[in-house]
Amino acid sequence: MKILAIETSCDETSAAVIEDGRKVLSNIISSQIEFHKKYGGIVPEVASRKHIEVISPVVKEALEKAKAEFKDIDAVAVTYGPGLVGSLLVGICYAKAVAYALGKPLVGVNHLEGHLYANFLDHSDPPKFPFITLIVSGGHTHLVLVKDHGKYEILGRTRDDAAGEAYDKVARFLGLGFPGGPIIDKLAKEGNPKAIDFPRAMMSEEYGYDFSFSGIKTAVVNYVKKTRSSDLRTQITDIVASFQDAVVDTLVIKTIKAAKDKKIKTIVLAGGVSANSELRKRLKEGSIKEGFTVHIPPISLCTDNAAMIGCAGYYRMKNGHKSDMSMSAVAGAKL
Ligand code: KG4
Ligand code: ZN
Repeated sequence: MKILAIETSCDETSAAVIEDGRKVLSNIISSQIEFHKKYGGIVPEVASRKHIEVISPVVKEALEKAKAEFKDIDAVAVTYGPGLVGSLLVGICYAKAVAYALGKPLVGVNHLEGHLYANFLDHSDPPKFPFITLIVSGGHTHLVLVKDHGKYEILGRTRDDAAGEAYDKVARFLGLGFPGGPIIDKLAKEGNPKAIDFPRAMMSEEYGYDFSFSGIKTAVVNYVKKTRSSDLRTQITDIVASFQDAVVDTLVIKTIKAAKDKKIKTIVLAGGVSANSELRKRLKEGSIKEGFTVHIPPISLCTDNAAMIGCAGYYRMKNGHKSDMSMSAVAGAKL
């Protein structure tokens, strides 16, 4: 069974062909970063226009790479939210048109669920239920107990900024560029993560598994403001390494605690921030120490891509879900 999957929730136009749920026949990603960089963030109107320009060639390339034609497609999966509404609509309209023209089923996929399913693609054995997943992206930071396909219990979430958002905002404040995550990840390797003791927010019992990342962003701003600019240049690597240390500490400590409290032995990482080298390393080390199994997607499947949407769509269809032509974009869709 071949699924054509489409993802346009933010600034990547992506199309993939997935066979039998897990096999990636193609996964084409066209990034718009170059068009947004100069604004220091994603400009929604620019994003929708760029999606419209490239969606057809991206789908064509995905089919070609998979050595398939439209007539070989058995179903169409598409992200319906959360994301930028104008961007989502481009993918949804395209997916609807293809499904309608081919007379094949259409399935809408939640973007966060998509990230999780990056772990079910054919690069490794899929995680066994139940497991704890940490979904960390530019817009979300969720700690979730996954009982089965589609059965989620949200244990905690960020109360303000998402982890990726904190990376992006700190990088922008320091004038490092956009998106901040990969830039800080690289620079932090040259700095001392213990140089500055930035706060680890909401670590006490009363906050449970919730996160907060806006305080650390303010702490970085305050630190920079009170440091002489002549000293600052040499300190940037220490600042970003210490910032990253605090963010990763919080994410890893809470994830391991959730697994221990819930007596779950498998941990699954997902979302754009799961590309972070320090988070990957520390979550692996922490999990091994506790005797847990840990699943982390390959870097290429961490950030937005359509392969993960095709995989999630396959399992949704297996569970009897199907969307119809009334499906629309849901900017604030919940997991
Ligand atoms: O999942 P994603 O591609 O898009 C959303 O669904 O939001 O995640 C993008 C986020 C951005 O905030 C980006 O800075 C962050 O993931 N990111 C990273 C790394 N690579 C991407 N954050 C930290 N370290 C990285 N290596
Ligand atoms: Zn994403």
